[in-house]
Amino acid sequence: MKVAVFGAAGRVGKLLCSALRDSEVFEPLAVVRSGEQASALQESGVNASALDIEKSTVEEITAIIEGCDAVVWTACSGGIAMDRIFTMDLDGTIKAIEATQKAKIQRFVMVSAINVDNRERWWHTALKNNFIAKRTADRILQTSGLQYTILRPGSLHSEAGTGKLCALDSLEQKKSCHYSIEREDVANFIVLALTHPEKTAFKTIPLANGELPMRDFLYVV
Ligand SMILES: NC(=O)c1ccc[n+]([C@@H]2O[C@H](COP(=O)([O-])OP(=O)(O)OC[C@H]3O[C@@H](n4cnc5c(N)ncnc54)[C@H](OP(=O)(O)O)[C@@H]3O)[C@@H](O)[C@H]2O)c1
Repeated sequence: MKVAVFGAAGRVGKLLCSALRDSEVFEPLAVVRSGEQASALQESGVNASALDIEKSTVEEITAIIEGCDAVVWTACSGGIAMDRIFTMDLDGTIKAIEATQKAKIQRFVMVSAINVDNRERWWHTALKNNFIAKRTADRILQTSGLQYTILRPGSLHSEAGTGKLCALDSLEQKKSCHYSIEREDVANFIVLALTHPEKTAFKTIPLANGELPMRDFLYVV
């Protein structure tokens, strides 16, 4: 199963591409911004195509991902500059969704962020505009007709994955807590979501590290 990964040179993206490459089921197509990033990934055994999402048309993005069976979005502008929040986090994501539809790919896994549906949690923070963009992109994906899974991780960290996630009812109960998760756990859960569309399709799933083994978490989402 061929999986196009937008944001493949990023921290979650690299971990995800390695996990997909090492699986027996998946073959990643890394979509990265530059030729240098593509070469580095190719040297590690991952197919890669260079494309600047913000500067590309939907047709150009479609041409890159045509023939894939699923798309993962784990890209972001990574900052608080308004123009790039518009061109990348909002319009870039929407262009990827439109390209997925044009390429007749059904499956789309989005990495969003925890609490994007809850304005009270972010309206007065420096990340307000990022959250507005992510919330809007999530809404568009949810009504796109694609077989979506929206993953909403807490703050990302780059230590080794724990393999354990916070149960959804615990997340609900502890609304005031600060949630975090290792990037490796996000990448591994994306692989699980791709492996089990019957459990994850058409779902929006908050992710934080906790006590529940990931496979058990999968059965209660
Ligand atoms: N940081 C957090 O605490 C947090 C919390 C919740 C959710 N998230 C979300 O989790 C996801 C993964 O995060 P991460 O830490 O892995 O992100 P990251 O390391 O910043 O990776 C993002 C990737 O997107 C790429 N990108 C940006 N603009 C692009 C463009 N125009 N064309 C092509 N590629 C472009 C970047 O390419 P370059 O390397 O060339 O810039 C980078 O490789 C993101 O969607 C992020 O919003 C993050």
